[in-house]
Amino acid sequence: MTTRPFYVTTPIYYVNGKPHIGHAYSTIAADVLSRYARVRGAESWFLTGTDEHGQKIERVAAEQGLPPQEFTDRMIPAFRSCWETLSCDTDDFIRTTSKRHQDFAVEMWKRCEASGDIYLGEYEGWYSVADEAFYTEKELVDGRAPTGRPVERVKEPSYFFRLSNYTEKLLAFYEANPTFVRPEGRFNEVKSFVREGLRDLSVSRTTFRWGIPVPGAPEHVMYVWFDALSNYVSALGGDDTDAYRKFWSPNGRAMHIVGKDILRFHAVYWPAFLMSAGLPPPAQVWSHGWMTVNGAKMSKTEGNFLPPEPIAEAVGTDALRYYLMRDIAFGQDGDFSHANLLARYHGDLGNGLGNLLNRMVSSIVARSFEGRVPDADPRTLHGLEAELVQTAERAARRAGAHLDDSEPHRALEAVWELVGAANKYVDQTEPWQLAKRGETARLAEVCYAVLESLRWLATMLWPFMPGKADEIRAQLGLTPLLPTVGLDAWPSAWGGLTPGARTRPGAPIFPRFDEDQQRSIYARLGAPLPDALKASGDVAAARKSAPKNAEPRPKAPEKTPVQDAATASTVTPTTAAATPADGTITIDDLVKVDLRLGLVKAAVRVPKSDKLLELTVDLGESGERTILAGIGKHYEPEQLVGRRITVVANLAPRAMMGRMSHGMVLAVSDDQGLSVLSPDKEITPGVKVK
Ligand code: MSP
Repeated sequence: MTTRPFYVTTPIYYVNGKPHIGHAYSTIAADVLSRYARVRGAESWFLTGTDEHGQKIERVAAEQGLPPQEFTDRMIPAFRSCWETLSCDTDDFIRTTSKRHQDFAVEMWKRCEASGDIYLGEYEGWYSVADEAFYTEKELVDGRAPTGRPVERVKEPSYFFRLSNYTEKLLAFYEANPTFVRPEGRFNEVKSFVREGLRDLSVSRTTFRWGIPVPGAPEHVMYVWFDALSNYVSALGGDDTDAYRKFWSPNGRAMHIVGKDILRFHAVYWPAFLMSAGLPPPAQVWSHGWMTVNGAKMSKTEGNFLPPEPIAEAVGTDALRYYLMRDIAFGQDGDFSHANLLARYHGDLGNGLGNLLNRMVSSIVARSFEGRVPDADPRTLHGLEAELVQTAERAARRAGAHLDDSEPHRALEAVWELVGAANKYVDQTEPWQLAKRGETARLAEVCYAVLESLRWLATMLWPFMPGKADEIRAQLGLTPLLPTVGLDAWPSAWGGLTPGARTRPGAPIFPRFDEDQQRSIYARLGAPLPDALKASGDVAAARKSAPKNAEPRPKAPEKTPVQDAATASTVTPTTAAATPADGTITIDDLVKVDLRLGLVKAAVRVPKSDKLLELTVDLGESGERTILAGIGKHYEPEQLVGRRITVVANLAPRAMMGRMSHGMVLAVSDDQGLSVLSPDKEITPGVKVK
């Protein structure tokens, strides 16, 4: 792993529609790589943004009766809040309508012109507005673009970029930089395209106005791709800034993550523009595949663009991130399937990882060691522990190597070898039996080894599932991961947990969804219900209508509510075993929830989040605590200070945006807005809600 400064970018997204799961895939992948660079001790800068010019946007704005600038301004919040919901820790967001961007795009143009690479001519040929791309007659398939989208005949005065000058230069560059494009197969396609000889590229348009005016020829606007590609340098403030010198070649490692459909723009046109402007190309272009959804292509005509946020709300952001990074081989085409998502959720996450944590922290360590990390010497490694440590080291080595190679799916496979090995180790060492037999010293060694494995897992999983990784750490008694701190770096030394430290048992981190909950998830997400759920649905319905003293409901495993403090909403918890069959709860269920009155002492916005507020809440005798609440769009922090609110005081701590929340604020909302629940008298803080 190199610790060169890392600069990772997503494509800048067209704002003609809201973000969908394909966009989410690129952005999450970039976030994973950025976070990984940080846990490896490198500085990382993660850029995303929006591509707002061009005919496509102009047309959609006109359809909506809005000036294009107003239209794009209205679309931006959807992108920002989507990346926030998906825990993508971006460092910058570039808009092509911003001044800083336009200034640099003009600068690029002037430099290419000064190199003699731009000349005036006339373009006659085909153009696809949906693709924002020119096509030759030869490239058309049945009168349409190779992407299947419609084309129009265009004839207009146009400036051209002398791409034909760059055939040899690009081939020499590729030769000298054998990993410039990944995966390799796609690099080969790029090379053969260039080897056929490049034709000059039309880089300005005159038949519409929504673009950056060409310097010295304002009747032309720049071709949207010339404009858009410049974002990767305009966002660094141009080429004469510390950020540029740090993150761009030759000092930094700039990586563009792009879908295969836009590889040619990034691997051919962009390096040629840069060379012409006297700048080095980026270090790497990583091209991922295309995703179908439950086997179908996403398209405007089908109207089946899948929005990522409802999925994150239903199963949790981290489960969605995990699924996307694990199930779809990076670089290859893949399918997003709700059924596979839930299978991974219940299998890898619930049974594999969640169960390991739960049975260790909430069960054995809580009971046998009063919730403290047992006092065992991590250097005493018997046969089984030595094997476990070896597996952990191998997992960290392999996962690291795969992430160095930008192969997140393989990295997760490697991490899961440790999840499997640690579960097997628990089965083999049978800690419950050790406890029963009073073999405390051995039990201490076993528990220490499992807890330490969990610490390693949390660090390796942090790039993928930052929230859950911090929840695991919270249960292990550790603070949220700070990638710059030594112990929090990619794991390499066994024995980081301090004996005697207090663990914090919490609720299962991936609670099972029972069949009714699964059905409701499918229904909410508009996804096809798998046959297995259809069949047992009838059985469940029959059972519900059966008389109460008939066959009892199947015993469900004990669960906790799936809570989402960011949206201040809860998914109804699974009915516990003692719950009556008609859906009511008993008083025993109710008292499990510690509802209390709190007084807000302080409130601030969480940086980089427009939703989250960090509240300091006085709970009387229980002291003060920090609660993060997703109510920032509805309240200014000052409005809340001094206000009495209702909180769930016994929720397991939960990490959000790198901070811990110790409770949840209750609120109600409808289309009028959101309101926190407050008493109408000055009741003493800390009293129970009854
Ligand atoms: N604006 C250009 C990019 C300019 S970068 C200088 C653009 N925007 S886009 O919004 O149409 O697409 C952005 C990214 O989303 C592309 O990388 C594209 O591959 C990706 N995806 C769009 N649909 C997708 C799937 N169905 N599956 C996976 N990714 C897909 O192109």
